[in-house]
Amino acid sequence: MKVGVLGSGQVGQVLADGLLKHGHEVMRGSREPGKLAAWKAGAGPKASTGTSADAAKWGQLVVLAVKGSAAEAALELSGPANLAGKTVLDTTNPIADAPPQNGVLRFFTNLDQSLMERLQKKVPAAHFVKAFSCVGGAFMVNPQFPGGPPTMFICGNDEGAKTQARQILDQFGWETADMGGVEAARAIEPLCILWCIPGLARNSWAHAFKLLKLG
Ligand SMILES: NC(=O)c1ccc[n+]([C@@H]2O[C@H](COP(=O)([O-])OP(=O)(O)OC[C@H]3O[C@@H](n4cnc5c(N)ncnc54)[C@H](OP(=O)(O)O)[C@@H]3O)[C@@H](O)[C@H]2O)c1
Repeated sequence: MKVGVLGSGQVGQVLADGLLKHGHEVMRGSREPGKLAAWKAGAGPKASTGTSADAAKWGQLVVLAVKGSAAEAALELSGPANLAGKTVLDTTNPIADAPPQNGVLRFFTNLDQSLMERLQKKVPAAHFVKAFSCVGGAFMVNPQFPGGPPTMFICGNDEGAKTQARQILDQFGWETADMGGVEAARAIEPLCILWCIPGLARNSWAHAFKLLKLG
């Protein structure tokens, strides 16, 4: 599949590299594509770079991996028409600029409205799926834990888009737990706060969540 990855940070790089590893073609988009030149030079023939709009238009599926507070602006730059009808894997977390309190991140959203709901409202024709938001970048692709594959919590309104997300998560070695519609992002996004506490409080960053079930 052709995947447009919006994001020049760690998550954009890790997911772009993971997609290439699993045989997909990737175009990474940025406001300044030039800063991705070194990545492009080393990433092989299936890798390219462009503006956010280039990547959004080119991708059959799009990954949104930008700073949470800039996510709405990034969608604007990408061009909502370029995202229409496409699955958008939303990795973003609504982390506020204020510093963490005793290891607990602050969000600029509240428990009655997630960032992904804002994004879905901004581009109604795109099919957003929350994914990869509740684990550190180092563990997003084929994580190896003694307790087996960890669980990625996803949600979104479009079943076909969630099937595409699940296929990529299968390739990336995750169990997928579908939590329902876009409103479930109110619960999934704060898992980032929980995931970061051991890191911020004790510099312990090597963990992932797993959902244990009977049957
Ligand atoms: N880092 C992790 O381990 C991790 C784990 C899970 C989820 N996440 C979430 O994943 C997302 C990406 O995280 P990250 O650490 O890779 O990078 P980041 O530093 O949070 O974001 C970098 C990206 O944000 C874009 N950006 C910043 N300000 C912008 C603006 N005003 N308008 C448009 N775009 C803007 C940059 O675009 P340009 O390229 O145009 O400069 C760049 O692509 C975040 O929402 C984060 O919360 C991160």
